[in-house]
Amino acid sequence: MLVYLLTYGVATRHPDGGSRGAYCRGSEAGNARRGSRNAEDRLSDLPQVFVTRRLPGDALARLSERAQLTVWEGTGAPEPSDLLNGAQDADGLLCLLTDRVDAAFLERCPRLRVISSCSVGVDHIDLVAATARGIPVGHTPGVLAQTTADFSFALLLAAARHVVAADRFVREGGWTWGHRWDPEGFLGVDVHGATLGVVGLGAVGRAVAARARGFGMRVLGWSRRRREVDGVQRVEFDALIERSDFVTLHLALTPDTRGLIDRATVLRMRAGAVLVNTARGGIVDEAAVAACLRSGHLAGAAFDVFRDEPIAADNPLLAAPNVILTPHIGSASVSTRARMADLAVENLLAGLDGQPLPHGANRS
Ligand code: GLV
Repeated sequence: MLVYLLTYGVATRHPDGGSRGAYCRGSEAGNARRGSRNAEDRLSDLPQVFVTRRLPGDALARLSERAQLTVWEGTGAPEPSDLLNGAQDADGLLCLLTDRVDAAFLERCPRLRVISSCSVGVDHIDLVAATARGIPVGHTPGVLAQTTADFSFALLLAAARHVVAADRFVREGGWTWGHRWDPEGFLGVDVHGATLGVVGLGAVGRAVAARARGFGMRVLGWSRRRREVDGVQRVEFDALIERSDFVTLHLALTPDTRGLIDRATVLRMRAGAVLVNTARGGIVDEAAVAACLRSGHLAGAAFDVFRDEPIAADNPLLAAPNVILTPHIGSASVSTRARMADLAVENLLAGLDGQPLPHGANRS
């Protein structure tokens, strides 16, 4: 059964009228809905684009004026088979970081002319395979840096001062008359006057460093490109790890950075240090961090990203003390997610037009 709905001002189709799998389809909505033959003819000339999730803002409505859209409307992210179903006849793919685009997938999508990810990270896409097929890949750098830096700093402060555990204590009835002010309760570590080590000095790392200076922190920085940043003392990686009270990660996940913060590195961190990761889970040995939280070597940690997402039920961080865990929401503000969608659509349209992408992640 086909069910037509109206979303984004476009006609939408649910192939099975209600199961989890659901695609919606539409373009040049107004005309198509009125059923004019001219509009139908124009529709068939438009490129086909598969969009793997609804996006905030009006970017998809704008895209629907230039392309025939099929938007995944199922519950949550599409499964690999849903992704393939949606993309195999498409000219363009607008995807998210949850959609794995590997060589085998590309092989089965012969018409694909552009891939645009609504994310800055592109570790979910096989860039080498896309490049080999001449497919440009777009991403959304820049627009999410300040928002992600805000969130990284929120995690740093929350981990330093046990904000989440204190909230839980209040809600769970621990704040009783006998414990109305405990001189030893929830003792954290000071942020002001402490040393922050920023690993990765791209846009997010630099934005975190700026916030840290405002909080009276001394800031050390390391990046693979040996970037110089005002107000940040550039040091070698080992020195940063050994001298920082707080270490915050702002690197893309690449073969070079995978496992960068391994067990030996975690053990070399200062006793009582705090680790914050809003970059990618694969950069860190999560079991080593969990062990160092249990032993008390680390005073705290905060992770927004994990090796497996959603977090695996047996991830050792779930049972570790003094760790804050959030579900990959670093860029999650209303305006930033809308700007990411805008950039993703700009990239996609440029690729469909055969133009260089404004924000390309590969050289196709
Ligand atoms: C978020 O992690 C992104 O890559 O945009």
